Amino acid sequence: MNFLSLIEAKRDGHALSPQQLQDFVHALVAQELPEYQIASFLMAVFFRGLDATELPALTLAMRDSGEKLSFPEDPRPLVDKHSSGGVGDKVSLPLVPLLACLGFRVPSISGRALGITGGTLDKLESIPGFTTQLPRQRIIEQVQSLGLAMAGQTERMVPADRILYALRDVTGTVPSLPLITASILSKKLSESLDALVLDVKFGRAAFMQTREEARALAQAMIGLASSCGVNTRALLTDMDTPLGEAAGNWLEVRESVDCLSGHGPQDLRELVVAFAAHLLLQTRRETSLAAALDRASACLDSGLPLQKWEAMLAAQGADMHRYRELLGRDTLADTVVELRAERAGYVARCDARIIGEAIRDFGGGRLNKNTVIRPEVGVDQLAKPGQRLEKGHLIARIHAANKEAGEVMCHRIASAFCLSEATAPGRSPIAEVLMT
Ligand code: URA
Repeated sequence: MNFLSLIEAKRDGHALSPQQLQDFVHALVAQELPEYQIASFLMAVFFRGLDATELPALTLAMRDSGEKLSFPEDPRPLVDKHSSGGVGDKVSLPLVPLLACLGFRVPSISGRALGITGGTLDKLESIPGFTTQLPRQRIIEQVQSLGLAMAGQTERMVPADRILYALRDVTGTVPSLPLITASILSKKLSESLDALVLDVKFGRAAFMQTREEARALAQAMIGLASSCGVNTRALLTDMDTPLGEAAGNWLEVRESVDCLSGHGPQDLRELVVAFAAHLLLQTRRETSLAAALDRASACLDSGLPLQKWEAMLAAQGADMHRYRELLGRDTLADTVVELRAERAGYVARCDARIIGEAIRDFGGGRLNKNTVIRPEVGVDQLAKPGQRLEKGHLIARIHAANKEAGEVMCHRIASAFCLSEATAPGRSPIAEVLMT
């Protein structure tokens, strides 16, 4: 194919035909295209967008670029959730076992960190021995027997997204409505789902900075997924502040275990319970939101999702003895630096972008395709907006690879906070619910 003319057409704002987009995906997966041309195509799409014919054509071509999951007939609906990405966004970790305990099957195929946002796979891989590389048949068998599997795309699932995702991450082309839509839905539509919930984030550390942009992204995804027969809803959620009180791969696993144990931060629990409740409604397991929230909340408190989580870890190779030993430790990092308030006040701002960038730059995320992530790097015990601090109170703990990195990281994390005299009420992270 003449890929250069396709790049030029997109650069000049012309629409590409479904056939051209299918040819592009074929050539991409056949490794016939040099990375510099793919990168330049991505940048053209970033600036020019994709129209209402191009977007489904690209998404479906990506979905069909590899093998799909298909499951035996079973009364348990197949469901999943996906997030557009945030800092401290560990919702999938407690949510997936909760859903399995609510009687769903959850073939959760997720991704790695992208930009400053964390990735579910990177978090899970901070658990010793745990593998996210499961062959397709293993995923199907485990979902049938345990009700859940959390894995990455297999070599052969949606290979087009794997190639584009890695390139977008390092070419500044992540925050694009059509590229995010195609990336998320190509994966989700290959899971044979009955229902899907989307966490579309907006704010300082989200790819969509404003609520309006997030709404447009959510509407595009709901429209496309629903037209493919998947009952889809989206929650628009706040990403000005990190979710929960911890960010960084291992620290987020710990906080997820707290949530599964009935403790942990309120905003995290609220989102986990809300996503489960919406899926209960979407699959007609419940008819009112209040009843669905009660059921999801009671299930989370029953302790069964924690047992399910541990069963999944064991099934996917985790060294349970070492995992429990690590959970008992205060930190896995070489150095912990405490950031303390220099004066009294209310937390008026805790900027998720500054925190996400600091974690990424000090080893908790990727700066290029070859970066090896340090799972122990991150922050915990974050003070959240609305919280009252007296002089000397803890604002955050910084977990760093060494003392020097810890001091510099602490300085950067300090700049994420702003204290004020007046109290600002804490807000629900859920701004809006969108459905078909
Ligand atoms: N998650 C994805 O899988 N893809 C994106 O582009 C953004 C978030």
